[in-house]
Amino acid sequence: MKKTKQWTLATDKKANDEIIEEAAAMINAGELVAFPTETVYGLGADALSDEAVERIFQAKGRPQDNPLIAHVATQEQLLSLVTSVPPFVEQLIYHFSPGPITYVLPSNGTCASRVTAGLSTVAIRIPDHPVALALIKASGRPIAAPSANTSGKPSPTEASHVIEDLSGKIAGILDGGQTGIGMESTVVDCTSNVPIILRPGGVTADEIRKVVGEVKIANAQSTEEKKPLSPGVKYRHYSPDVPLTLMRPSVTHMQQYIDDAQANGKIVGVLASDALSRQLIARKTFALGSDLSQIAKNIYRGLRSFSHEEVDEIICETFPKEGIGIAIMNRLERAAEKNSTNNK
Ligand code: TXA
Ligand code: MG
Repeated sequence: MKKTKQWTLATDKKANDEIIEEAAAMINAGELVAFPTETVYGLGADALSDEAVERIFQAKGRPQDNPLIAHVATQEQLLSLVTSVPPFVEQLIYHFSPGPITYVLPSNGTCASRVTAGLSTVAIRIPDHPVALALIKASGRPIAAPSANTSGKPSPTEASHVIEDLSGKIAGILDGGQTGIGMESTVVDCTSNVPIILRPGGVTADEIRKVVGEVKIANAQSTEEKKPLSPGVKYRHYSPDVPLTLMRPSVTHMQQYIDDAQANGKIVGVLASDALSRQLIARKTFALGSDLSQIAKNIYRGLRSFSHEEVDEIICETFPKEGIGIAIMNRLERAAEKNSTNNK
């Protein structure tokens, strides 16, 4: 067990510059530093070093065949990691980067092979967060970073979530407060003529379609024989400590469920929009916000919120699969998947 250093970023630029320099020096020494991005907190390591990247897998308990995203600060740095970039990617970069979108492109072998898990492609994104960008620039190299949670758990949207999962296992955490979007980036396969969305996220299919005309959506659960396009989609993900059930947003239906559970001596934690949570009578309720972007921002915090309370199960309302709602429902459905065991 090592001591994890925690830096709180202030508004004072000079003080922050010193903190970033210190954190970048740790990255360059092969250590792990968690940092905020506009989506969720990332767990960063030197993307050029297999040894450093291996530490990410150990700290998270991440399956070895699940590749990582290389985070870069500029388009130029992105180009330095790939063999070629189709014209539609230039358009996507122009419109959405820096931002919550990740491009899967043919790797030129610059990133350590542990980053790509041996694939011929590499996933790259330019995060839209001053701390993330400053850290990448100060370290002078791409930073490999998955979400900074224990594998299988909800992604961290606050430094306290990272501490909960990884304290003592990583060198440092840059605390930049709550992240803005709360959902991970959209992962887009850019190795053919048409972009294919492998994981829905902060940039929606409609937004991508408006820029490039056509976009395909990969089937999340591909057939057993076929290797999933995005290796990460086959693993248990985003799960709270107790079972999660999704329910349509009906007051009567949900109230009945809560009352029945209570009659059986069980305590239900309820995750619902502000409006619905005001109408439900339950012992533990977490109000997620009043629109889809607030709900996206708060959903992982909500899923973690009951972990220190005596809650036997969690119920959450379903949301419309439109805009960022597609990403929210993708994560909730994965989190609610039964028949798999908890990852630690
Ligand atoms: O917003 C985000 O994307 C956050 C922040 C920290 O940047 N990162 C994140 O990383 O969500 P992670 O490791 O939790 O998810 C990365 C996803 C996984 O589903 C992985 O399988 C996929 O990207 N991926 C990575 N490299 C890939 C590749 N070469 N081909 C296909 N999928 C890839
Ligand atoms: Mg993740």
